[in-house]
Amino acid sequence: MHFSRLSLASLAASQVAAVTLWAASYGGAGLGDGGVTSLKLDKTGTGGYTLKQTSFLNGSTSCGAQSSWLTKDAWNNVIYCVDEAWGAANGSITSFHSSPSGSLTLFDKQISLGSPVSTVVYNGGAALAAAHYDTSAVTTWEILPSGGLKAMQVFRYKLTAPGTNPTRQDVPHEHEVILDPTGCFIVVPDLGADLLRIFAINKKTSMLSESSTFAVAPGSGPRHGTFLKTADATYLFVLSELSNTIASYSVAYTATGLSLTQVFISGAYGVGVEIPTGAGAAEAILSPDNKYLLTSERHVASFQIPNFDPKNSTTLPSDALIVWTIDHATGKLSNAQRAPAGGMNPRQFSVNAKGDLAAVGLQDDGRVVILERKKDGSFGDILASVMIAGSPTSVIWDE
Ligand SMILES: *[C@@H]1O[C@H](CO)[C@@H](O)[C@H](O)[C@H]1NC(C)=O
Ligand SMILES: *[C@@H]1O[C@H](CO)[C@@H](O)[C@H](O)[C@H]1NC(C)=O
Ligand SMILES: *[C@@H]1O[C@H](CO)[C@@H](O)[C@H](O)[C@H]1NC(C)=O
Repeated sequence: MHFSRLSLASLAASQVAAVTLWAASYGGAGLGDGGVTSLKLDKTGTGGYTLKQTSFLNGSTSCGAQSSWLTKDAWNNVIYCVDEAWGAANGSITSFHSSPSGSLTLFDKQISLGSPVSTVVYNGGAALAAAHYDTSAVTTWEILPSGGLKAMQVFRYKLTAPGTNPTRQDVPHEHEVILDPTGCFIVVPDLGADLLRIFAINKKTSMLSESSTFAVAPGSGPRHGTFLKTADATYLFVLSELSNTIASYSVAYTATGLSLTQVFISGAYGVGVEIPTGAGAAEAILSPDNKYLLTSERHVASFQIPNFDPKNSTTLPSDALIVWTIDHATGKLSNAQRAPAGGMNPRQFSVNAKGDLAAVGLQDDGRVVILERKKDGSFGDILASVMIAGSPTSVIWDE
C-alpha cells in the first residue's frame, strides 16, 4: 500500500485524536441482542466529532445476554463485564483484554451468584468486589496474575419483613460497590434494606469484613454514590432511587471504622424542585476536577430534543442529567443545571479524564451519546451519537 506524506500525517493525527469507549447492553428489551460494543470517538476535520462502532461481541458468546456493567482495571489492563442474566440461577463475570483498536478478547469467565450489577477493583488491583441485586449479595474475587478471577467471599443478606416500598424492597438489593479514597473501605448501597453496608478491606489478604451499617430514611432505596476527598475533609454522596433524593455525608475515620454524618439532603431534581411522578434516580459521579456532582434521572421526559435525523422534524423525549456544585467546606450541594441527557433512561454515564466530554448510555433508546461539558461545569451540546445493539447499561472510556 502506498501513502503520500500528507495522508500519513493526517492518519497519525486522527489516530492520536481517536478514543476508544466500551458500552455494555441488555438484550431482550425490543432493541436486539445485548453484549459489549467497542466504539471509536474521533474528531472530524471541521472540529466536530464522530462516534462509530468498531466491533460488537454478542452477549450470547461473550459477557452474557444482560451485560449490566463494565469496569476497566488499569492495574491489570483488563476489562471486566458482568451479566445480570435475568431469570437464570447464576450470573457471570467475564474478563477481556483489549487491543489497540479497542476490540476485546475474552480470556476468562467465572460463574457467580445471580444478578451482578456493579464491580470495583480494590487493593491496588489485587481483588474485585461485585454487588448482586436480586440475590442480595456482595462477592469478592482474587485477581490472578493472568487478570482472570478466583472466587473468594460471599456475603448474603435477608430482610425479616419487606421495606416501606414492598414491591421494590421485597429483599435486600445490593446496588453498587464503592471504594473509599483511602482504599481501606467499600460502601455498598442496599436499595432493598435502606442501608449503606460498610466493609473494611484487609490489605494483606484482600478479604472484606463487615464493619458497620448506616441506616438511611425508610423507603429511600439508596442506589449509587461516590466519595470526594478534599484537602480537609472526605464526603460521601448517595443518590436514592426510590425517594429520588441526594444526600451528602461527612466521613470520619475512627478506631472502629468509617462513620457518616448527614450534612445535606435534597430532592434529586434540584433544591426545592418537585419530583416528577415515576422518576427513578440512577447514576451519581464526580467531575474529574472534583467541583461537581453529576447525577441522572430516568423515566420522565423532562425535555424534548431535536431528532438525531436532521431531516426529521419530530422532537424526541429526553431525561435529565443534573449538575450539582459542591461546597468543599461543608459538603453541601447547590443546584447548577438540569440538562437533557440525550434521550430516555440514562442509567449510567461517565466523563473522560480531561473532563470536557461525557458518554451517556440511553437504555430505552439503544443509543450512546457524547455530550459536551463546558468550563463552567454545565452540559452543552450533543456532539456525537451512535445506535448500538441492545439497551445500553454502562459506557466507559479507555483512558
Ligand atoms: C447474536 O447471536 C445470536 C445467536 O448466534 C444471533 O441470532 C444474533 O443475530 C446475534 N446478534 C447480533 C446483533 O449480532
Ligand atoms: C449459582 O446459583 C446458585 C443458586 O443461587 C448458588 O447456590 C451457587 O452458589 C451459584 N454458583 C456460583 C458459582 O456462585
Ligand atoms: C421521525 O422521528 C419519529 C420519532 O423518532 C419517528 O417515529 C418517525 O418514524 C420518523 N419519521 C421518519 C420519516 O423517519
